[in-house]
Amino acid sequence: MCGIIGFTGNIDAKEVLLQGLKALEYRGYDSAGISFFTDDKITTVKAVGKVSDLEGKAALFSNTSTKCGIGHTRWATHGGVTETNCHPHKSGRVTLIHNGIIENYKELAEELAEKGKQPISQTDTEIAAMVIDDCYKSNPLKAIRKAVKKLQGAYAFLIMFEDHPGSIYAIRNGSPLVATATKEGSVIASDMVALIKYSKDYFVLPEHHIAQLTSKSIKITDLDQNEVEPDMLHVNWDMAAARKGGYDYFMLKEIHEQPEALRNTISPRIKNNMPDFAADAIPDSLFSDLNRIIITACGTAMHAGLIGKNMIETLTRVPVSVDIASEFRYQNPILDKRTLVITISQSGETADTLAALRLARENGARTLSIVNVKGSSIARESEYVLYTHAGPEIAVASTKAYTVQLAVMYLIAFRFAFVKGTISNNEIVKLTKELEKIPGFVNEILSCDTSIEPISKKLLKTESLFFIGRGLDYALSCEGSIKLKEVSYIHSEAYAAGELKHGTISLITDNVPVIALATQENVFAKMISNIREVRSRGAMVIMIAGADAQVDASLCDHLITLPPIDDAFAPFGAAIILQYIAYYTAIARGLNVDQPRNLAKSVTVE
Ligand code: AGP
Repeated sequence: MCGIIGFTGNIDAKEVLLQGLKALEYRGYDSAGISFFTDDKITTVKAVGKVSDLEGKAALFSNTSTKCGIGHTRWATHGGVTETNCHPHKSGRVTLIHNGIIENYKELAEELAEKGKQPISQTDTEIAAMVIDDCYKSNPLKAIRKAVKKLQGAYAFLIMFEDHPGSIYAIRNGSPLVATATKEGSVIASDMVALIKYSKDYFVLPEHHIAQLTSKSIKITDLDQNEVEPDMLHVNWDMAAARKGGYDYFMLKEIHEQPEALRNTISPRIKNNMPDFAADAIPDSLFSDLNRIIITACGTAMHAGLIGKNMIETLTRVPVSVDIASEFRYQNPILDKRTLVITISQSGETADTLAALRLARENGARTLSIVNVKGSSIARESEYVLYTHAGPEIAVASTKAYTVQLAVMYLIAFRFAFVKGTISNNEIVKLTKELEKIPGFVNEILSCDTSIEPISKKLLKTESLFFIGRGLDYALSCEGSIKLKEVSYIHSEAYAAGELKHGTISLITDNVPVIALATQENVFAKMISNIREVRSRGAMVIMIAGADAQVDASLCDHLITLPPIDDAFAPFGAAIILQYIAYYTAIARGLNVDQPRNLAKSVTVE
């Protein structure tokens, strides 16, 4: 969601801010703005649309020297997409940017109105700026400490005070902020992608702590004014990982990065042909003590959980349920110390997943998270973490983060089965060796794009389509459907193949596309029957099947087959095919696949 960047140092701040905002574009936004100090005055430039529009407007100030400023990309929540609602917001001597939602902004606005103070925008953020300004006499730290006592909700703020040129103040509750001090100056942002240009070493600003950035250093104090040393973190990827590197889109680049991401995620966790979490500091007792697992996540991460459920239940016979994180808290979940709650999140910042994790902890459940972003909120708040090593995922549509989440779910299932003794060690070794081959298998399948692209072109004019499958293939259908919807804007639904005839088959008429996944031998015959049902009602069928599948030519319009692989691992191959279908369909429709409309990469509001 909203992207944040702040810089104070000895190089041109405007340039740092604009470059930073470009790096943050992937988070999803609809307007952008920057504010910077010129002598003792703060100048603000805003634009609805892209950072390039803002850049055009900022060019008017190209001769203006500035060494300190803040920049923001806004994903509208309160108030429409207008320049007035765009950040930074100014109130008195305070200029501020914000990621999050101030829940009590209406009450605060009423209090301010009683003092004769009226906002000019419709945003909760301007109210926050007004509250801070209202608390401000001459000491920024005092004003921030006083103001945050009044604010309810999630926030990451960067604040400049007009009478403190060269300084940026930051505080956060929920929404992320990472920072680093370098020889060029101090820089702070909503995520590492904007910081990597300056350093691979950084820290996450602790919640409810204030950072004061000057050109020379960053000082952190808690709300009791104690100085705090931050925990430094290091990322092992570089600028190149955050660039397109010759690909037209990040989504395509990230699809192609899957073999490496999978290798980096799987290999360090295999010792003597067995899954091993010793380096992740996860004890076997975590698995031996539990009698139930709940997996909770959103979107694609939740779909990885559906596959994980199947693997864990098959191998361990321990019941697993998968809950949408935004629903979890409202279902009055049954939680106790023998329940393991697994949260899955690429960003580690998804508000609903974080809230589900907190609820699980409050109720005494054990918690394990599968997260891609180091030091993110979900990673920090979980009892145990298994990092996926996908590197930065920039495209809004999750691809490599999904397959590495699957890999970690498989490793968990194998280790859990070992601890429980539900299958023999020989079987675990066999499964582990198969998993080790997955990066190579995925690499092989990547070359199928040449056959998928022409099939995707057939979907160009489609208004609505269906994905069907059974078992693991049903879980994959859910993922195929969300991927296609988010980047191509074609309506689609995922259906358990056997369920279609209980209502939805009424929508299958001539040439309605049905993407049928039939990679699992145990349900293959039943899938064939279901495909015949849609075929006989005129559906245009695209079928994805295993290498050995015997498929009658009349059954489908297009057949895509996987290279030979054990059925249990077929999801890794089918996922790539589904990602390609989504990507090439969106390309055929002339869309910007990396930044689909209305979507944000990291959903930090509930
Ligand atoms: C994936 O293609 C989506 N953009 C989305 O569903 C995403 O997976 C979801 O928002 C969860 O994000 P997270 O993994 O960062 O928690």
